[in-house]
Amino acid sequence: MKATITLLPGDGIGPEIVDATRQVLDAVGTRFGHSFVYSRQLIGGAAIDETGTALPDDTIGSCRSSNATLLGAVGGPRWDDPKAKVRPEQGLLGMRKALGLYANVRPVKCFAGLEDASPLRPERLRDVDLVFVRELTGGIYFGEPKGKDTHDGQRRGFDTMVYTEHEIRRIVEMACAIARKRKKHVTSIDKANVLATMQVWREVATEVFRENADIHFDHQLVDSAAMRLVTDPGAFDVIVAGNMFGDILSDEGAVLTGSLGLLPSASLGEGKRGVYEPIHGSAPDIAGKGIANPLGTVLSAAMLLRLSLDLDAEATAVERAVARAIADGLRTRDLGGGDASLSTIAMAEAVIERLEREG
Ligand code: IPM
Ligand code: MG
Repeated sequence: MKATITLLPGDGIGPEIVDATRQVLDAVGTRFGHSFVYSRQLIGGAAIDETGTALPDDTIGSCRSSNATLLGAVGGPRWDDPKAKVRPEQGLLGMRKALGLYANVRPVKCFAGLEDASPLRPERLRDVDLVFVRELTGGIYFGEPKGKDTHDGQRRGFDTMVYTEHEIRRIVEMACAIARKRKKHVTSIDKANVLATMQVWREVATEVFRENADIHFDHQLVDSAAMRLVTDPGAFDVIVAGNMFGDILSDEGAVLTGSLGLLPSASLGEGKRGVYEPIHGSAPDIAGKGIANPLGTVLSAAMLLRLSLDLDAEATAVERAVARAIADGLRTRDLGGGDASLSTIAMAEAVIERLEREG
């Protein structure tokens, strides 16, 4: 097949990991007879420096006209002034909204050979294989009014948390569809004991669960879910949450397995188009050194192949090659490789070698 992919390297280590992943995609193309055409565009701090905005029109145009988008990371200390009018994060938030990417899907799994990298005791890690499904275009991130003013002589900031039935229904439905291909269990996260928004969330989620009778479900308050995520992570399958709670819990979930640098994500909306990115950040401290772990981006590219291009065998081949490289003891510095650490490019090449060898 022929597919067009927008590449958004972004900031920090973004360009290094995206370039390395592009090599893996090219190897997939050669091996399986596909041709991927890339369009490289600006986002985040890099876009601010060059155009004055974090999300140039050309970038959105390219994302809209390609089959999928692969993103590195945005942000860094250079653009970190909280008072600045333009911030790199606006690129990310603006893109989610403009492309209608209402769902962020983040799988969390243990890799054989990395058990010792987790901050949790090995017995707690048994059976950890879960997926976060986070609502991405609503809730307190986008609700109006939001702003800053002065009230009774005091500086004040305010945000609004709003969820409509439609927004809740579609994200819980997506969680059920994902669970159906897994362990058929969805945990819905809310704060229904305090927040009106979250009472509506629980009502609508309950209705959706009733319509999906093959799915086991439970409701958990966000605070106790945060606790259970470290005391009994193996009990979860699919976790569905609103924008802010999903943001917080998915970072907590990401460190469970000690493989932050390995975890991918997909941001999805209606239709096949999606934006794929590793869940780690732009790591400015190691940017430009060629030592960043490219595997979170490589695994994001695997999700891209499966979800946006319907190339399931190709996606599985990439995932297997990554698992094999780790099982073979290959490590970048973040995975505890020490003096024997591979560079970004060497790790990508190790994956390509296994991809070609496995046949
Ligand atoms: C994420 C990030 C973003 C978010 C930031 C960078 C705006 O934390 O993708 O989880 O809060 O959504
Ligand atoms: Mg986050």
